[in-house]
Amino acid sequence: MALPEILRGRLSLPVVGAPLFIVSQPALVAAQCQAGVVGSFPALNARPQSLLGDWLSEIEESNANFAAANPGLPVAPFAVNQIVHRSNDRLDQDMATVVEHKVPIVITSLGARPEVNEAVHSYGGIVLHDVINDRFARKAIEKGADGVIAVAAGAGGHAGMQSPFALIREIREWFDGPLLLSGAIAHGRSVLAALAAGADLAYIGSAFLSTEEANNPAEYKQMIVDSAAGDIVYSNLFTGVHGNYLRGSITAAGLDPDDLPVADPSVIDFGSGGNSSAKAWKDIWGSGQGVGAISQVLPAAALIERLHREFDQARAELQESLAQFDSAGVSA
Ligand SMILES: Cc1cc2nc3c(=O)[nH]c(=O)nc-3n(C[C@H](O)[C@H](O)[C@H](O)COP(=O)(O)O)c2cc1C
Repeated sequence: MALPEILRGRLSLPVVGAPLFIVSQPALVAAQCQAGVVGSFPALNARPQSLLGDWLSEIEESNANFAAANPGLPVAPFAVNQIVHRSNDRLDQDMATVVEHKVPIVITSLGARPEVNEAVHSYGGIVLHDVINDRFARKAIEKGADGVIAVAAGAGGHAGMQSPFALIREIREWFDGPLLLSGAIAHGRSVLAALAAGADLAYIGSAFLSTEEANNPAEYKQMIVDSAAGDIVYSNLFTGVHGNYLRGSITAAGLDPDDLPVADPSVIDFGSGGNSSAKAWKDIWGSGQGVGAISQVLPAAALIERLHREFDQARAELQESLAQFDSAGVSA
């Protein structure tokens, strides 16, 4: 278990802010990096395609200015997410822009392609690939990804169904490279738990949906604040791939969250309407099960500061708990 070289000494907390379709944009990414966690956004959020280069320049400049003004503080590198699915007709152009800017970290999802990995390696970047089971994790590494993001049950957006304990354990049996855990992490104690389970980093998405810098409507932010795990519905109706969504947004779209039809899985079109007339991401709002830990809309830096405090407190409390056991695991 080890952090990739590119991250050593650059993080104040072992966290990657996950890419959020429509929601992540340069102000959020820069705020995440400048608070010492990796910030990321899907390349597809920059529309038209020509905007991607401008966004990358904006983040690079903001981070460089912050680093110059705050020499003692770690500024984390940023990541761009590429949807490597055939429905993404911008991939080649977006990859050319990524290579031009030497984007430090590329997160690939919905497919693994050796040529994408090779392009990122050509300038010294790394690729983290997101997977929902051990079989896909093996494929990703075989095809040249540097690390794996294990997307467990309860994650926002497209998500798996496996317990984080099971998923991390199976991958750690054969893989000692960078491993991230994703799914319902929205509290500093859960970040520590991800590390204890065997991950190097926690991958956090939904908690950032309620930040001031997030590009989603105020009603969506408020629904994150008001919702808890019981308000999250798992369905493949909206994009053809199973994912987790806010119950309140499904009801608002005139659908019954307790009686959703099952979609035709051949109609996968990430980012469009999938099998229903309500548009995924725009009308039907994604969210993971961790939102019970979110109680207010905050600047991203304040949320990360809160995660820090919780992480430190959990670490101190855990040390006390562990002191009750001797090295043989017998209660003292
Ligand atoms: C609204 C929303 C949009 C998302 N969009 C993307 C995306 O464009 N690309 C991607 O790889 N993952 C996407 N995800 C998944 C996240 O990157 C991440 O795996 C997930 O949010 C982690 O679980 P959590 O939300 O419980 O923290 C999205 C998640 C949400 C909630």
